[in-house]
Amino acid sequence: MEKPEHTDQQEFRYESVVKFIDHLIDSGALIAGQKAPSLRKVSKARGVSISTALHAYRMLESQGVLEAQPQSGFYVSAATSNQPDKPSAATKSTRVRKVNTGAQVANMFELASDTTMAPLGCAIPSPDLLATSKLDKFLVRTARTRGKYANTYAPPRGEEGLRTAIARRSINWGHAVSAEDILITCGCTEALHLALKAITRPGDTIAVESPNYFGFLPVLQALHLTVTEIPTDSVDGISITALESALEKNTIKACLFSSAFNNPMGCLTSEDKKKRVLTLLNRYRVTLIEDDVYGDIFFGRQRPRPYSAMENAKRVIYCSSFSKTVAPGYRIGWIASPSYIDKLTTEKYATTLCGPTLTQVALGEYLNAGAYDNHLRGMRKSFAANIAIMTKTIAETFPPGTRVSRPEGGFVLWVELPDNINARDVFVLALKDDICFAPGDLFTTSDNYRSCLRISCGYPWSTSIERAVWKLAELVCGLTR
Ligand SMILES: Cc1ncc(COP(=O)(O)O)c(C=O)c1O
Repeated sequence: MEKPEHTDQQEFRYESVVKFIDHLIDSGALIAGQKAPSLRKVSKARGVSISTALHAYRMLESQGVLEAQPQSGFYVSAATSNQPDKPSAATKSTRVRKVNTGAQVANMFELASDTTMAPLGCAIPSPDLLATSKLDKFLVRTARTRGKYANTYAPPRGEEGLRTAIARRSINWGHAVSAEDILITCGCTEALHLALKAITRPGDTIAVESPNYFGFLPVLQALHLTVTEIPTDSVDGISITALESALEKNTIKACLFSSAFNNPMGCLTSEDKKKRVLTLLNRYRVTLIEDDVYGDIFFGRQRPRPYSAMENAKRVIYCSSFSKTVAPGYRIGWIASPSYIDKLTTEKYATTLCGPTLTQVALGEYLNAGAYDNHLRGMRKSFAANIAIMTKTIAETFPPGTRVSRPEGGFVLWVELPDNINARDVFVLALKDDICFAPGDLFTTSDNYRSCLRISCGYPWSTSIERAVWKLAELVCGLTR
C-alpha cells in the first residue's frame, strides 16, 4: 500500500523550509533584493540537512521567489515586491435563478479540444505533464494479457481493481472508504450529475460557490434545478454568513461545493470553516455534494482533507476524478458514498450501464504499481512554477489595478481587470490571435465577474505562452484607454 502523504518525512522537511522562507517574506522580515539565510543557517534553524535546505531553495527558485547568485548565495527575487493584489470578493448571495448557460459554455467546451489555440483557456494539464507514456504501457499490457476480460461489461459500480486502488488512496484524504462504497463514473462530471439526480427533483434549489466552475451549470440546467450562488473569497473560501442567510431565506436542497482549490480561484476553505459549514447544513438537513478534483494538487505541506473527512460529515457525497492529474482522456471519475451507493448505482446502470473496462483495468494497475505519488509530486512542482511565472508576467504587463488570485493548489489563476474592462471584449479579440482564456461571465448566473477572467497554467512555460500573455496584456491595455 502507498504511504499517506503526511507521513512522508522527506517532503515534510523540505516543505517546512519553503514555508519558513515564504513566511519571512510575507511578514516583511525578508524583502526583495535581500539575501536569504545561508543554507547552513536555515538547515540549523529548521533541523534539516544542508541537501534538504538546498532542495527547498531550488524549489523556491523555480517558483520565482528566490534567485541564486553565483559564489554569493540566494536572494529574494524582485518579483516578490511586485505581487498584485488579490481579487475582491462578492458580498451577497445571488437570488435563486433558473440556469440558462446558452451558447457561451458550449463554445468554451468546443475550444477545449482546439490545439491551435494558446492553451490558457480550459483547465486541462499539458499532455507532457500527464503520465501518458507510463499509462500507455499499462494499457498495452492490459490489452495483451487481459484483453478478453477487458472486452466484457464491467460491473455497474466499476472494475474492482480500480475501486480497491481508490479505496486505498482514500487513506490520504483522511477518510477511509471501502471499495464497496465507490462507484466509478465517466469523469467527475457524471459523478456530480448522478449525485444531483439521486437527491433532487426538478425545481429544487442548489447552492454553489461564487464564482463557480462553469461546467456545473449545464448539469444543473439539464436536471431543471435552480441555483443560488454563495460569495466565496479568493483566500478564505466560502462565506459562512452568506451561506447561513441563504439557508434561512430559501429552501435549499443541496450544496455543491469544492473540497479544495475552487475553480477558478484556487482558494482553500479551512478545516475549521468546513466543520462550521457542515454544522449549518446538518441543522437545515441539507446534503453536501463535494467536488475534490483538485485535492491532490496542493502546494502546501499536506493534502487538504475534504468535507467528508470531518467528524460532523453526516450528509456528504464525495465526487472526484483522475482528469486533472493523470488521464483526462480516460474519463474516469468516482463517487464515494456509503449511504447513497445503491441509489447511485441504479442511476448509473439506467444511464450508461457501466463504464469502459479496458481503461479502468489499466488505470487500476497503474495506481497499484505505486508510481502515482511520485508523478503527483512532479506535477505539483510544475504547476506551482507555472503559476509563479504567470503571476509575475501578468504583474509586469497588465494595466495597474489588475488583481490576481494566489492559489494554494490546482493550476488556474483568477484575474480581475480594472472594472471598466469587459473580459468578453478581450476574449473576442484574443480568439482572433489564437489565444483562448475563460471570461469571467462564464463562472456565474449573475452579471458579476464581467471584468474577470480565468487563465489556465496547466502547460509548462514556453516562449509561445509568454508571447500569448504579452499579447493578452496588449489587448487589455488597448481597451483601458
Ligand atoms: C471543479 C471541476 N469539477 C469537475 C471538472 C470536470 O471533471 P471531469 O473532466 O473529470 O469530468 C472540472 C474540469 O475542469 C473542474 O474544474
